[in-house]
Amino acid sequence: MKVLGIETSCDDTSVALYDSETGVAENLLSSQVELHNNFGGVVPELASRAHLVNLLPLVDHLLQRQNLQLKDLDGLAVTSGPGLVGALLVGLSTAKALSMAADLPLVGIHHIEGHILANALTDEMVFPAMVLVVSGGHTEIIYMPEVGRYEKLGGTLDDAAGEAYDKTAKLLKLPYPGGPPIDRLASKGTPGRFNFPRPLQKDPRLVFSFSGLKTAVKLAVEKLPQPLTDQDVNDVCFEVQEAIVDSLCQRLFQAARLKHVKSVYLAGGVAANGRLRQRVAAEAQKYHLHFIPPERVYCTDNAAMIAYAGWCHLNEGRRDGLDLDSFPRGTLTSWR
Ligand code: KG4
Ligand code: ZN
Repeated sequence: MKVLGIETSCDDTSVALYDSETGVAENLLSSQVELHNNFGGVVPELASRAHLVNLLPLVDHLLQRQNLQLKDLDGLAVTSGPGLVGALLVGLSTAKALSMAADLPLVGIHHIEGHILANALTDEMVFPAMVLVVSGGHTEIIYMPEVGRYEKLGGTLDDAAGEAYDKTAKLLKLPYPGGPPIDRLASKGTPGRFNFPRPLQKDPRLVFSFSGLKTAVKLAVEKLPQPLTDQDVNDVCFEVQEAIVDSLCQRLFQAARLKHVKSVYLAGGVAANGRLRQRVAAEAQKYHLHFIPPERVYCTDNAAMIAYAGWCHLNEGRRDGLDLDSFPRGTLTSWR
């Protein structure tokens, strides 16, 4: 079965082809990072317009590269939410038009399910699993007994982990998105110069809080002689990253022990983080849990994960009609 995936929930326009016989055949991405960089974050109206300009040419390009026509496909999968509604609507209306034009089955995919199932593109998933979803908008712990069954056990009380990276980067005048530069600079940092908070550590709930981190970093940075030296920036990056990764690891393994799972997984843009992958790998080994980090290209937003999730749904006979709607927020629910 050949499924075309479309992802336009935020600032990346992506289309991909998943072939159930051979795997991901194509994963094309048109990034809008340059467009939004001047504003220090994503401007929704600009994102929608850029999706509108980029999406159909990207679909054409994919079909040409694969020497395929629309009628050669077996289905279409599109992110229906959560995300920026204007941006999602560009993907949804395009997918509906293609579905009508070529009489192809269509299925809407929850963006977070896409991120989680991206793990299956790297290696066969082992169940029951505990998944830490860490992206720009989400920080959640999800218990997953099998594909299609999801139970949210906890999450952030304020900012998402990706937001903590992005806000710190803004304070340090690093480019947007902030995760990749902090990941890189932290490896040159000297440990011990700063002590940033790990809130709620004694709280028995599976909760996170990252909003205090931004204030702590702001206060620490303001005390330093200005402008900051490269070493100052590297040292702040190191300690911020340690604080974030400590909180994430503590809750992931607390949840894993609670549910006696066989495996742990990372999902979402922050799953690309080198230190997080390293720490989770070390703890998984300690607790004898299966862990293989997802390939980095499938961590940040991409349509391959949507195409693959779409195949999982279509293969079980799930279909959506032309009344499929977008949604700005909403918890991932089970469909099995
Ligand atoms: O999943 P994603 O691409 O988009 C959302 O659905 O939000 O995640 C984007 C987030 C951004 O906050 C970005 O700073 C973060 O993922 N990110 C990283 C890394 N690469 C991307 N955070 C830490 N380390 C990275 N290497
Ligand atoms: Zn995402």
